Order: sequence, then C-alpha cells, then structure tokens
Amino acid sequence: MTVDAEVIERPNARPAKRRTTKKDQKTQNSAVEAAGAAETPALQRAIKRVLITSPKGGCGKTELTKNLAVAAAMAGFNVAVADFDRQKTLKKWWERRPDSLATQIELYEGQMASPREVYQVTDHDLLIIDTPPGVEDHPEQIKALITAADYVLVPSQPSISDTESVAAWMGFVRTLGRPGAFVLNRINKSATKSLDIAKRDLNKAGLLCPIEVPQYTDFDNAARLGVSVLEVRGMSGADDIQAVWHFLRNQLGL
Ligand SMILES: Nc1ncnc2c1ncn2[C@@H]1O[C@H](COP(=O)(O)OP(=O)(O)OP(=O)(O)O)[C@@H](O)[C@H]1O
Ligand SMILES: [Mg+2]
Repeated sequence: MTVDAEVIERPNARPAKRRTTKKDQKTQNSAVEAAGAAETPALQRAIKRVLITSPKGGCGKTELTKNLAVAAAMAGFNVAVADFDRQKTLKKWWERRPDSLATQIELYEGQMASPREVYQVTDHDLLIIDTPPGVEDHPEQIKALITAADYVLVPSQPSISDTESVAAWMGFVRTLGRPGAFVLNRINKSATKSLDIAKRDLNKAGLLCPIEVPQYTDFDNAARLGVSVLEVRGMSGADDIQAVWHFLRNQLGL
C-alpha cells in the first residue's frame, strides 16, 4: 500500500474542520449554563472517556487513539480526541486530515499540568485521551486522568520488557478502581512462541483484549495522510482495528 492510495471520501466536502480551543469550550460551557440543562438534551449525553496509557514509549498509544477514534466515528458516535503529549503527534496527524473526509473528529489539546481539563469536554459520546510516555514522572496528574476515565486501554508490544512494565502499570490502574485492558500491538504474527508467552503473561496481569494488532507499514502510510487505516481502501490493519473497537465498545456498554 502506497501513500497515494485511494482515500475514501464523502461526496461533498465537509465544512472546514475546527479545533475546539479552551476559549471555545468556555463559550460552550457558558452557553450551556445560560440555556439551562433541561433545554440542551444533546449536552446532557453521558460522555465516555477512554484513556490510552502506558509507561512505555512507542507501543502504539497514539496509533490506537486515532484509529479507534475513527472507528467509533464511523460507527456513528460523536467522537473527540485529546492530546496530552507535548510532542503533539496526535495533533499533527489531526491537522493533516483532509477536509474531504467523511469522518469528523474533534481535537482537544491538553497539558499534563492540568489533567482535570478533560472534565470540560462534554459535548461528545466518546473522548479518547492520548498520553505521553514516562507518565510515572507525573504521578498525581496521571492519577487524575485515570480517575476521570471510564475505561483504560494499555497497549503493549510483546517483548518481556514491555509486558513487565505494563503488568505493573495495570496494577496501578486497578488501585484507582478503573476497569481496563491490555492491547497487544505491533506483533509479528510468525513469532508465535513469543506471542504466546506475552499473552500468557498479560492474561495473568489483567484483562487482555482478544485481538492483537500486527506490525503493518500501513499504519505509518495512513498517518502520513492524516487518516486511519480504516479510511483507505484495502489497508492492512483495518480489520484488526475494527475488532479492537468492537471489544472496546462492548467494554464501555455502548
Ligand atoms: N501496529 C503497528 N504497526 C506498524 N507500526 C505501528 C503500529 N503501531 C504503532 N506503529 C508505529 O510505531 C511508532 C510508535 O507508535 P505510536 O506513536 O502510536 O506510539 P506511542 O506509544 O504513542 O509512542 P510515544 O510514547 O512516543 O508517544 C509510530 O511510528 C507508529 O506509526
Ligand atoms: Mg504517542
């Protein structure tokens, strides 16, 4: 699959995309207050927050955030993503998204210094929150984000160093009383023995999503285009992402 692959577009281009800023959100909040909750049923929706977190870098937090967000939006949900990583990989991807795409996702920029800002995001069905690596260095902030989450996804590569780290991390998530699951990502399907060991170790440490996402270059090809693997016909990884989304949707009771 090359990057000039056929992106699935909708017939009529959408209006220019909009990033909700803090100021917009304040305006939105005062509008809610002014209108009164009873008159704004759309804003009464109980938003579900999914936190994607791992102490390890490069395990696929951002890939899962964007691809699951697109899967959820394609399923008809009103979806937003929040980028709490200073590297802003998610934000840069979002800015590359072609205006002609059928699937719209709102972006919020967060800062680890003020995690409670996630509570200000209300006008969506689903908020998927991407976090930076090295979260152990911000214990209070990551605690606040985990506490705000309805569900926590912990991606992991299959190596022993990854599974050891995320097993301990899931223990921390559990102490905060939040449900969550591991998702094995970037797996080599032919390395069956090491995959089996990783699955065994993660199953011991918590709930493991029954779908593993293989290592596919199409994730990077899609990222370059500002799209998900679901938005380009024939991309590898699309079925796997759909299956992980169905698992997550089920866990959230959506
Ligand atoms: N299943 C996959 N197949 C192929 N490449 C992948 C896959 N998942 C992630 N990648 C690639 O691996 C790199 C790291 O992934 P990603 O940025 O999602 O990890 P991360 O956990 O967000 O990293 P960081 O902790 O640095 O923010 C990226 O180049 C991404 O495109
Ligand atoms: Mg990332």
